[in-house]
Amino acid sequence: MKVLVATEKPFAKKAVDGIREIIETAGCELALLEKYTDKAQLLEAVADAEALIIRSDKVTSEVIAAAKNLKIVVRAGAGYDNVDLAAATERGIVVMNTPGQNSNAVAELALSFMIYMSRNRFTPGTGREIQGKTLGIHAYGNVGKLVGRKGKALGMNVIAFDPFITDPAVFEADGVKAVSSIEELYAQSDFLSLHIPATPETKKSIGRKLLTSMPKGAVLVNTARKEVIDEAGLAEALQEREDLKYITDIAAETQAELNEKFGNRVFATPKKMGAETAEANINAGLAAARQVVGYLKEGITRFQVNK
Ligand code: 3PG
Repeated sequence: MKVLVATEKPFAKKAVDGIREIIETAGCELALLEKYTDKAQLLEAVADAEALIIRSDKVTSEVIAAAKNLKIVVRAGAGYDNVDLAAATERGIVVMNTPGQNSNAVAELALSFMIYMSRNRFTPGTGREIQGKTLGIHAYGNVGKLVGRKGKALGMNVIAFDPFITDPAVFEADGVKAVSSIEELYAQSDFLSLHIPATPETKKSIGRKLLTSMPKGAVLVNTARKEVIDEAGLAEALQEREDLKYITDIAAETQAELNEKFGNRVFATPKKMGAETAEANINAGLAAARQVVGYLKEGITRFQVNK
């Protein structure tokens, strides 16, 4: 059985070695397609694969149609908005993610973004400390929780909102204060860390109104998805409020314009890098390989997202 690892942004070598060991020990064959530049390469490589392990790689209906033998896709990571779930489900293909496996890397990056912006992107001048400031967590999943815990360790006052968690005890157990609406969250947050997935409901949901309600000098930190930002609204907010800042590891479609217009107040890393640590690659990559083997050999469907 052929397991294809298709990663436009490759895993660290140690992760690939670990994935190979798991796949080959299970009697399967590993095929690697790394740093591919053309969709055609993926279409060709997936043609005879039974299983597919990916990162942010796009598994469209075209890819599914080309993968005649495909039984399972595992997204080594949290967000699976890059997979056409309807097309996979129609073919009876199981889709899974590996929740929590790369969360720490993303949380560390989010915290470092807060300090970087508070210190004027490490350029000369007087900065601000994050201690004593209010950190708002938008969506309290695996990454949000870790950002909250780390923020508390740095002396921040942590508040959170998650539309799917109605019991305040969940937050209180972590010493985090639950607020009752998105509006309240943004209005109180000196630093707002976004951890919502890109869904039809969340796309373009963060815009001018929420951003201009934030306290003076506020920083929006986006290590989630660029799609959740209403980019025109973001530009309006930055224009209207000269104290607001935006930092992300997923450049906006209009990033060049934002950089030009707002200079030091906006920053995007050249490539998406939240999960780019050896540890996260190993955790997520090996979990993905184990999940593939578990499904192919024993039919285990834990972490299936298209049930
Ligand atoms: C995720 O959803 O797990 C993160 O966005 C990481 O994405 P990546 O594997 O493409 O770095």
